[in-house]
Amino acid sequence: MSPADAARAPGPAAAADPGPEAAHWHPVIAADAVPPERPVGVRLLGVDRVLWRAADGRLQAADDRCPHRGTRLSLGRVVDGALECPYHGWQFGDGGRCVRIPAAPGFEPPAGHGLGSHAVQERHGLVWLRVGAAGEGAVAELPSFEAEDDARLRKLLCGPYRVATSAPRIVENFLDLAHFGFVHEGWLGDRAHTEVDDHGIEPTPQGFAVVGCRAWQPRSNQRSSTGRWIDYRYEVTGPYAAQLLKLPEDADAERDAIGLFVAPLDPERSLVWFRLAVTDLASSDEALRAFQHAIFTQDQPILESQQPKALPVYAGGEVHHAADRASAAYRRLLRERGITFGTV
Ligand code: FES
Ligand code: CO
Repeated sequence: MSPADAARAPGPAAAADPGPEAAHWHPVIAADAVPPERPVGVRLLGVDRVLWRAADGRLQAADDRCPHRGTRLSLGRVVDGALECPYHGWQFGDGGRCVRIPAAPGFEPPAGHGLGSHAVQERHGLVWLRVGAAGEGAVAELPSFEAEDDARLRKLLCGPYRVATSAPRIVENFLDLAHFGFVHEGWLGDRAHTEVDDHGIEPTPQGFAVVGCRAWQPRSNQRSSTGRWIDYRYEVTGPYAAQLLKLPEDADAERDAIGLFVAPLDPERSLVWFRLAVTDLASSDEALRAFQHAIFTQDQPILESQQPKALPVYAGGEVHHAADRASAAYRRLLRERGITFGTV
């Protein structure tokens, strides 16, 4: 379906025909942004979704459209853990089941009056949604971020950034070593060190790793004051997710792990999160976020300028060279998995 067709198609039809990307987990909102007392609307894969919390705090997720007359459910309320439609007050409980129709109090709502619910969980400070219940093809695992479980590291969420491009363009930029000396000059690179060393691609359970990368970084993190060589290890952990491990040459320098989690809102609109896991216990949250913010706002205008906004995975039209090995591997992974949302 073209983006223009998708825009014309009603939400439920789009939801009924998800691509393979729907089988994956996607980060839709910060976990602390879904309060117990009201529903919250989010966007994912071209469809509006609604989140709310059951009475015991467990998250629930469904498409943001009442099956009765199509009203936006996120305009409603949460009553004793049930989602109440703002129009006629139908209530939806666990798994989206319709539990109350106020205009027909004696009527037992059948299953067909319920909401199609989605799998949902909280992790890395985020709410993750997978379209549909755990059906065929569903991916059980979230994109991995091993540093989350390292008790010595400090974790911090940065974002969300709303970016006017496809999710795959954002992941590809994260894997790109050749832009440091230009886009991040004086921070992650400089023009005296623009050559990209030979590096390798290794398969991993969730995707692939990019190994043997090295970058000269004038200022590799919030506290660094001198330039140094940094070894990089990237891993693509899902169609729209990756992680980066920065290992400085001197063992006592700070090490950083950065998870990149992108929610594909629409084919050309994305929400970007960074999960930091760092050895820096001294800097304030604000200072750590400010560094990440400075870096990403250098990338953002470049990302939003790229045409086409969809990543050319199936089409030609872009040329490559040896330093683009990670990008080529990423495009291959999307092709092999049949990912069409945000690609062309
Ligand atoms: Fe939702 Fe009628 S439209 S209850
Ligand atoms: Co960049």
